[in-house]
Amino acid sequence: MTIMFNKCLMAGVIPLAIALSSTAFAQESTGKGEVEVLNWWTSGGEAKALGALKDQLADDGIGWQNMPVAGGAGTNAMAVLRSRITSNNPPTAAQVLGYDAQDWADRDALSSLDDVASAGNWDEVFPQPIQHFAKSDGHWIAAPFEIHSTNWVWANKSMMDELGIQQPGSWEEFMASMKKAQDAGHTGLAYGGQPWQDATVFENVVLATGGADFYRRAMIDLDPEALDSDTMIRSFDRFRELLQYKDDNSPGRDWNLATAMVINGDALYQIMGDWAKGEFLNAGLEPEQDFMCFRTPGTQDAVTFNSDLMIMFKNDNDQQQAMQRTMAEIIGSPEFQMTFSQLKGSVPARTDLLADKLDACAQRGYEQAKAAAESDTLMGSMAHGYAAPASVKNAVFDIVSSFVNSDMPSDVAAEQLAMVVQGARS
Ligand code: BGC
Repeated sequence: MTIMFNKCLMAGVIPLAIALSSTAFAQESTGKGEVEVLNWWTSGGEAKALGALKDQLADDGIGWQNMPVAGGAGTNAMAVLRSRITSNNPPTAAQVLGYDAQDWADRDALSSLDDVASAGNWDEVFPQPIQHFAKSDGHWIAAPFEIHSTNWVWANKSMMDELGIQQPGSWEEFMASMKKAQDAGHTGLAYGGQPWQDATVFENVVLATGGADFYRRAMIDLDPEALDSDTMIRSFDRFRELLQYKDDNSPGRDWNLATAMVINGDALYQIMGDWAKGEFLNAGLEPEQDFMCFRTPGTQDAVTFNSDLMIMFKNDNDQQQAMQRTMAEIIGSPEFQMTFSQLKGSVPARTDLLADKLDACAQRGYEQAKAAAESDTLMGSMAHGYAAPASVKNAVFDIVSSFVNSDMPSDVAAEQLAMVVQGARS
């Protein structure tokens, strides 16, 4: 399935379901011109956060044409974006992740945001790991919305209380707590069996097993000796151990439906980026009262991150250019960074804001992200386009998902991982 999908993309064919979903955009205009924004923010929490941008643009008299392409992590959205560009019909702006932003900049498709960035002092307020992806050749080419991180566990608090489960401090305690839930007739791990979700959970396990240095060597430096190593084999062993706590209906499940299992008391935990918190918040739940958040056991000393970037496509029309600048200005502003993250589940990408307006999970997350940026342990997420270019990422997805959906032994998986990554790089 994954392989077929990738082949479609390579051949430049957009699968029908995706093409159809892209036509389902909503149009709203205030008469002063409008922006068309391609994004994959279609869950309840995501749509609410995106609404904050639409509202703020409306305050500036700018209309909104939404172009949502459903599908977590943007896999489908990127296919639609490519087809729009190929047919010479780019949207005003698009939500993208790190390496994809760089790719569009290399193709000279993007408007420069240098004026807005210099007026807003972006060089000072956004941390280096974000600038690394939002700038190209020293020029700002993207406006960062936030910092998300992927090494979080979201937990049903009443189930923890009912079963006497304390926050697990180690991998062993983590497994034991899921076993307890399973023995009591619940699902231990809410799991969405889609390639990007498999990879999101897997990168957590790699970090928990090998630590920050190993994660960097394997996932970012793509060192073949780390990819095919005993530590990677052990990571796959642990991944297998974890997978026994998912339910039988996990294949193909969307991430927000997995989150709903934790919200509704059907499952104890979900391992997912903090956009999952946006779903809890959207359901009116309070962190640390109604649900718990903690770093995946064994990953407390590092943060694997991604950041949604808004890129603006080159345009000859003065009005479109002015609206692009306004949109970038809004996204980078202190007020918007705070409002957006309060809805989205993330933390602001700006490091100069007061954390006290954030919820309990995000307050910790914000300090952890800033500390990690200082100590060089704010590391790009492989599953979310911040560790390696799309070709490598997709190759990793293929092996990790094959492992999930078969009884592939761990040593074979590690060997194959090293092999496909090597192949994707050459
Ligand atoms: C994006 C998030 C989004 C999540 C699920 C991630 O790659 O950064 O903004 O909520 O995918 O679609």
